[in-house]
Amino acid sequence: MVEVSTSVLSVKQGEASSVFLALEKAKTDYFHIDVMDGKFVEKNTYSQMLSYAETIKRISNLPLDVHFMVEDVEQAIHDFSAVYPNQMTFHYEAEKGSEEILTRIHQIKECHAKVGLSVKPETNVEEIYPYLPYLHTVLIMTVEPGKGGQTLLTDMVEKIKQLKKYCSQEGIEIDIEVDGGINLRTAPLVKQAGANILVAGTAILMANDYHTIIQELKEA
Ligand code: DX5
Ligand code: ZN
Repeated sequence: MVEVSTSVLSVKQGEASSVFLALEKAKTDYFHIDVMDGKFVEKNTYSQMLSYAETIKRISNLPLDVHFMVEDVEQAIHDFSAVYPNQMTFHYEAEKGSEEILTRIHQIKECHAKVGLSVKPETNVEEIYPYLPYLHTVLIMTVEPGKGGQTLLTDMVEKIKQLKKYCSQEGIEIDIEVDGGINLRTAPLVKQAGANILVAGTAILMANDYHTIIQELKEA
């Protein structure tokens, strides 16, 4: 079964609580929190996303799916552990080597959260194969991280297939999450390739009816 994680990146401050409640009613499976530090990517959404995550935690029982697009992952794990995320995902490109990556995985597990590792479009997915046994999720970026509303890079469909094939061969059970440019046109492509968690911001937030679009993305 495919799940949908709604990115709240473009939700306006004044409308936040009502949008979050509407998304819960519309049966999003997760709230996707895009944490940017102004260094790993240009934009800085750090304090806004922390405050959105706190608001969601107060008014909803749904799980938080936190995506760190930051250089200082250790600090971000510390700051966001206060909102008890269901999952924390960090970027392979933000770390200097395998020791750091394994330390971050351990730190996230100590917060009782699921661990996700994300790869940017230019990173070969083979590079993260050694970590697969320790992860719950691989987050394949289907756009360059940094902003919403971009178009899915079609080469990423092959990357998802490659990861899915490797996991099946090796008997590794892992969630494959995709993020960026997911809509009713691209959802079938990434699902057929092996993705089972779809992150969508624009496609959901711009739709007239959140419930319908979330259902359609699941069934696409
Ligand atoms: C991109 C973020 C995404 C993205 C999703 O850096 O990680 O979560 O904003 O938004 P859409 O669905 O608009 O591509
Ligand atoms: Zn994201």
